[in-house]
Amino acid sequence: MEIKKNEEYIVDIIDNGMEGEGIAKIDDLVIFIPGAIKKEKIKILIVKVLKRHAYGKIIEIIKKSPYRVEEDCTTYKRCGGCKLRHIDYEETLNIKQENIQNLVNKVFKGNQIKVQKTIGMGNPYHYRNKAQYPVGVDREGKAQIGVFAERTHEIIPMQKCFIQNEVAEKIAFAIYKFIKQKGIEPYNEKEQTGILRHIVIKVGMRTHEIMCILVVNNKKIPYESQLVDMLVKEYDVKTIVKNINDKNTNVILGNHNIILHGDGYIYDILGDYTFKISPMSFYQVNPVQAEILYNIAIDIANLNKEDILFDLYCGIGTIGIFASSYVKKVYGIEIVEQAIKDAKENAKINKIENVEFYVGDVEKVFSDLIEKKQVYPDVIIIDPPRKGLDKNTINNILAVQPKKVIYISCNPATMVRDMKLLAESYKVEEIQPVDMFPFTSHVECVAVLQLK
Ligand SMILES: C[S@@+](CC[C@H](N)C(=O)[O-])C[C@H]1O[C@@H](n2cnc3c(N)ncnc32)[C@H](O)[C@@H]1O
Repeated sequence: MEIKKNEEYIVDIIDNGMEGEGIAKIDDLVIFIPGAIKKEKIKILIVKVLKRHAYGKIIEIIKKSPYRVEEDCTTYKRCGGCKLRHIDYEETLNIKQENIQNLVNKVFKGNQIKVQKTIGMGNPYHYRNKAQYPVGVDREGKAQIGVFAERTHEIIPMQKCFIQNEVAEKIAFAIYKFIKQKGIEPYNEKEQTGILRHIVIKVGMRTHEIMCILVVNNKKIPYESQLVDMLVKEYDVKTIVKNINDKNTNVILGNHNIILHGDGYIYDILGDYTFKISPMSFYQVNPVQAEILYNIAIDIANLNKEDILFDLYCGIGTIGIFASSYVKKVYGIEIVEQAIKDAKENAKINKIENVEFYVGDVEKVFSDLIEKKQVYPDVIIIDPPRKGLDKNTINNILAVQPKKVIYISCNPATMVRDMKLLAESYKVEEIQPVDMFPFTSHVECVAVLQLK
């Protein structure tokens, strides 16, 4: 049957995809339907037809899934941050598990690796410790703050967000009110004029310390000291940083920071350790689940006191510091200079002496450690960005053959790809997903690769 754009069809939803979208088939054509749930029967309107697949829009839900729930967020359909708010939380955990299992089965041909049940959150609300709000102008030229509409730079005005920290939301709104009252120009992306581009707020969930980063297009903010006073007095903000970003770019933070109040960082506590967090350094956005993730990683690594551990892509040193008491020595590698400065200080704050941190690209610094310093890891923990491992790092792992590699990943697709590339020497029995990002389509995974 030829599927045509703007025609209606009735379909059975046979699965949910990696983005949470429903999947149906008409003959052999796969149709993606955002907002549909497995086992539903739906009347759809075809909105786009490509060679191998098509996209549909829900017109009517003929048979509803028992897992469909009332949507609680008013911007849900446009924001694209959460993709699963229309599904019962427990079921979202099953969907994430099934998606990873399907991926693994495809890449490894057959059921060789078991994906465990996703570890969910007791309270999957307001879990994020970092908020980034774009500031700009709407079509009428009025100042706006909120979230970008999915795949666009149109700002949806800020409303209550159920995954964001509530204090962060209040502070961002107070800044928005302030700039409107004082006539401070928001950034105009098209014209590249105006001042305030983004408001970034980081909160130490256990210490309650707050960092506010004002991302601006040029150095001067009118009424700057008044704004700082308001944030400190009314919201007890510990540090305020002005970040200069005058480039025409999608990257939120520029490279230059000016401290307006406090010392430019906050602390948070994870497990038994205190961590210093700077504006530019990575810190897991959901500390409750991060603690669970790190403990699983250390548990499955089954470390011993003679082990040399490499913590690759170490950020501010969190995992290495968590693992330090179980091993002889930890070597951490990370590309962001400030993160390595924080990592070194974090080791000091926590009185840990058996860790060394190196700044640079894992692709190169890993080779240097082996070839120049002749340090060989017994165990490696890797926690790369979404793009996964580069070829050189894969080759280095295959060459030094540590007895175990613990792979932590926020992108199951690249993790499974890399596991396949390491499969000549390493066997994986199971993958443990951890729901680091409830109600979004994202999921964190941890697995042990055992030397064959
Ligand atoms: C997913 S984060 C993990 C950080 C840390 N393990 C944690 O749990 O907080 C990935 C880290 O890798 C760093 N990174 C990205 N590309 C890198 C590279 N080529 N070499 C070294 N570090 C890199 C990022 O700056 C970021 O801190």
